[in-house]
Amino acid sequence: MCSRQSVYGMKHTTDVCFEGNRFYNEDCIEGCRRHIPDGSVDLIITDPPYGIGGDKLHKHYNRDESYVVDGYIEVPAKVYGKFSRDWIAEAERILRPGGQIYVVSGYTNLHHILNALHETKLREVNHIIWKYNFGVYTKTKYVSSHYHILYWAKPGGKRTFNTGCRFGLQEQDESEGSLNYQDREDVWVINREYKPGVEKNKNELPTTLLTKMIQYSSNEGDTVCDLFLGGFSTAKVTIGLGRNAVGFEVSKKIFDKKIKEMKSLKPGYLLTMLRKPERDVNVNAGKRWTQEERSTATAEYESLINTGMSRKATIGTLSKKFQRGRFGLAGVLRGA
Ligand SMILES: C[S@@+](CC[C@H](N)C(=O)[O-])C[C@H]1O[C@@H](n2cnc3c(N)ncnc32)[C@H](O)[C@@H]1O
Repeated sequence: MCSRQSVYGMKHTTDVCFEGNRFYNEDCIEGCRRHIPDGSVDLIITDPPYGIGGDKLHKHYNRDESYVVDGYIEVPAKVYGKFSRDWIAEAERILRPGGQIYVVSGYTNLHHILNALHETKLREVNHIIWKYNFGVYTKTKYVSSHYHILYWAKPGGKRTFNTGCRFGLQEQDESEGSLNYQDREDVWVINREYKPGVEKNKNELPTTLLTKMIQYSSNEGDTVCDLFLGGFSTAKVTIGLGRNAVGFEVSKKIFDKKIKEMKSLKPGYLLTMLRKPERDVNVNAGKRWTQEERSTATAEYESLINTGMSRKATIGTLSKKFQRGRFGLAGVLRGA
């Protein structure tokens, strides 16, 4: 259900729905129970409150807080374990079989989140380290510059993972390393966005980070949920990539500030800005080699190797030229 304003028992909540997107200004645990049916969400990307006095974080960070939207609601450390179990149980319920969840967490309360995930039937897919450039003041110990991203999935259905959505399987960098492999390594170096003079939520997640998770783990038209919207960054990228956003933010101050911007977004506005992966299809892969083709490939291989080109690069070049897979080509060159 989605009305402009509604009253549930004693709690006053605001629901805003437009073009397949639904946002609720209320506690996500109660809100999920009220509004989100079982198995109706394809992907959850969320960054829960830290439980470390996040409403006072500006005391540690070196930045001008006058542009940070206030109203952030923190969860007391002593209830963080139960709080994590409660919202993660709701996340498990609303995911479809095969649906996936990414939880962004610092290290302080990571154990609570991991324990809560292990108490569900969800299964771990990856434990990603996000390295960023946003250190806290420290002189007597190492500078903390990473977050954890816990990537889990609900069993019982097909998990979406679009392997070639950003880099083709054969795309290489200048040193012939696979760009696809590098993009799928589980340490991500993505800087936080520097937005001087622009109003933002505390610790907004970067568009690049969100785009990566959404591209790999969902398709256009899917429903992507964020239980802790904060600056609505997940919702913004979700709409921008042509998916439907659902989410909760308990702070009225933050919710009211951001909701207007959400309505002004054009669905799919980010799609044209995405990098297009090179197509991987080798049209001749699997076809029988003629004798003439074998001789030409062998002669060209030898002449390229004689120029000093490495074997790996030579096979890459010939694979593109003959539109053949690397393994098949290497076999032919060995005389197989
Ligand atoms: C770490 S911030 C999320 C930041 C967000 N990912 C972004 O990029 O801006 C966590 C948010 O959860 C909100 N919050 C705290 N408790 C909540 C609850 N029970 N239900 C929904 N939102 C809650 C806080 O007010 C805060 O805005």
